Amino acid sequence: MASLFPATICLLLFIIGVAAAAGKVPAVIVFGDSSVDAGNNNQISTVLKSNFRPYGRDFFGGRPTGRFSNGRIPPDFISEDFGLRPIVPAYLDPQYNMSDFAGGVCFASAGTGFDNATSNVLNVIPLWKEVEYYKDYQNKLKAYLGDTKANYIINEALYIISLGTNDFLENYYSLPSTRSKYTVDQFQDFLIGVAETFIKEIYSLGARKMSLTGLPPMGCLPLERTTNYVNGNGDKCMDGYNDVALHFNAKLSDLVKKMNDEMLGIRVVFSNPYDVFMQIIREPSTFGFEVASVACCATGMFEMGYLCDDLNPFTCSDANKYVFWDSFHPTQKTSRIIVDYLMKHSLHEFL
Ligand SMILES: *[C@@H]1O[C@H](CO)[C@@H](O)[C@H](O)[C@H]1NC(C)=O
Ligand SMILES: *[C@@H]1O[C@H](CO)[C@@H](O)[C@H](O)[C@H]1NC(C)=O
Repeated sequence: MASLFPATICLLLFIIGVAAAAGKVPAVIVFGDSSVDAGNNNQISTVLKSNFRPYGRDFFGGRPTGRFSNGRIPPDFISEDFGLRPIVPAYLDPQYNMSDFAGGVCFASAGTGFDNATSNVLNVIPLWKEVEYYKDYQNKLKAYLGDTKANYIINEALYIISLGTNDFLENYYSLPSTRSKYTVDQFQDFLIGVAETFIKEIYSLGARKMSLTGLPPMGCLPLERTTNYVNGNGDKCMDGYNDVALHFNAKLSDLVKKMNDEMLGIRVVFSNPYDVFMQIIREPSTFGFEVASVACCATGMFEMGYLCDDLNPFTCSDANKYVFWDSFHPTQKTSRIIVDYLMKHSLHEFL
């Protein structure tokens, strides 16, 4: 009998060992723009903020956090689906410390892009600086947990990379200086080059499991529909922008293949929200929505950030009826549906 006990312990340790080897994700680490920013912009001097009501009115405690949503954003749902906390906190948010960040951290900054010229437009955190913060995080994590535990988290974490829309809408199609330098195809190749350099850099720092996110149908954002309308083209989606998104997504998908072929031990997936997002916009009622062409906040046609404020009498009362929360960002409900889709089609690889 006495020898049975250690045998049971051994079996238990073996099972735990196998589970660890299967690579359970111990943290979700986020790089990108407003699609995934949990509030880093609150701490920098930019006009692109959302840490005031009605933002966050459906978040835990009805609290505005700097997320561009009425509630949670995709990384929060992904973290929860991996059995981690239901939110991924922003690295610059003073409410959180290393004991929180050990289980997930967000370096994203609303308004940023792959191109440095994109982050310059609204004075937000450029992608290279998100990496500087990540290096700082690694040092603090090692000081907090010791090298072994910290390296385990760094190697086994799931890295969410989500940006690119601003490179086109804020930069290429708004700044003549960028358009005079590149055709749209050349500009896409330039961005893909930056993305590749970025992936290689975080790989060299220890990242292995990555999800590179595709662009949404950006010609259907309410702001772009309003622009179409103002230009006398009705309130339809801007097909040209959607075509650019599709083309860029194909290049991102090729980059993912290339990285998996070239880099030892890396596992990158392409998480493409385009099709499901388009389906939601085309057939909102199938998903339980009533409105897809304008957003919930204010008139829903052009407002975001400070223009989407709590005094506006037009803001809808039930954001669950709307695909978009403000003129540029989905509601929490839309994000939940998109994450359900991504968990099934790409992120399940890491479960
Ligand atoms: C983090 O904050 C919590 C709650 O404020 C505190 O209990 C904990 O000791 C802090 N941990 C570190 C590593 O500073
Ligand atoms: C962006 O700026 C950083 C810092 O100046 C620089 O190191 C990096 O090479 C720039 N990236 C590109 C693609 O020009």
